[in-house]
Amino acid sequence: QQIQPAQVSLAGRHVLITAGGTREPLDPVRFIGNRSSGKMGIALAQAAAQSGAEVDLIVGQISVDLPVDDRIHVHHIQTTEELLQAVQSLFNQADVLIMAAAVADFKPLHLANQKIKKQANQPELTIQLTKTVDILKTVAATKRDDQLVIGFAAETNDLLANADKKLQSKHADWIIANRVAGSHNAFANDQDQVTILRHGQQPDKWPLQSKQAVAQHLMQLISQHFGK
Ligand code: CTP
Ligand code: CA
Repeated sequence: QQIQPAQVSLAGRHVLITAGGTREPLDPVRFIGNRSSGKMGIALAQAAAQSGAEVDLIVGQISVDLPVDDRIHVHHIQTTEELLQAVQSLFNQADVLIMAAAVADFKPLHLANQKIKKQANQPELTIQLTKTVDILKTVAATKRDDQLVIGFAAETNDLLANADKKLQSKHADWIIANRVAGSHNAFANDQDQVTILRHGQQPDKWPLQSKQAVAQHLMQLISQHFGK
């Protein structure tokens, strides 16, 4: 359905959005990254700004242009640790947090000061990884009642069951579940088929549509949540 601009107002609201992928350095020239394009997070930032919100957009690695909008304040990060710091410093003033970033789950246990060299007699290299902090879970645990925290769930299989576990375990108010495998792979695509999970409600499966349309519909839901 078409959304009329008048139905959606986030005027006076602060929306904090994370977008893109994190990079975890291994040595001065290498990192572990992921295929996130940042498109969803950027579409969300644009839709929020168009709805009248002030937007803090924290971006990692992205493969699209950044939006230029007076209402969108861009903050750059590389690592999960930097993302955590940025989210924590901006969360207090936010009415809404949307964690659209593709955050590394593991990072190298050791960061080499020098470039890691090949050795003639070494056909294999083992890199030890250690878990990163779950930013969504950590930050959502501190949320006030008047704040809305929205996470994503990227799944290749058992979408609803896995996404529901994230809704229950991460202290998020809503989880936006999408697939990252097969024909509707959300990563790098312009379109997305999402299912919205909320506590005490049936999962709401949305049709396949552009990420811009998903973002606009989400702003409509958020503005309804705040009683507009
Ligand atoms: N997330 C986070 N910090 C992490 C990992 C993920 O804040 N260290 C956030 C993501 O931004 C997303 C949500 O948690 O909003 C779910 O991410 P996802 O990768 O789908 O789930 P994980 O909890 O990391 O579990 P897994 O990857 O094992 O499915
Ligand atoms: Ca993950």
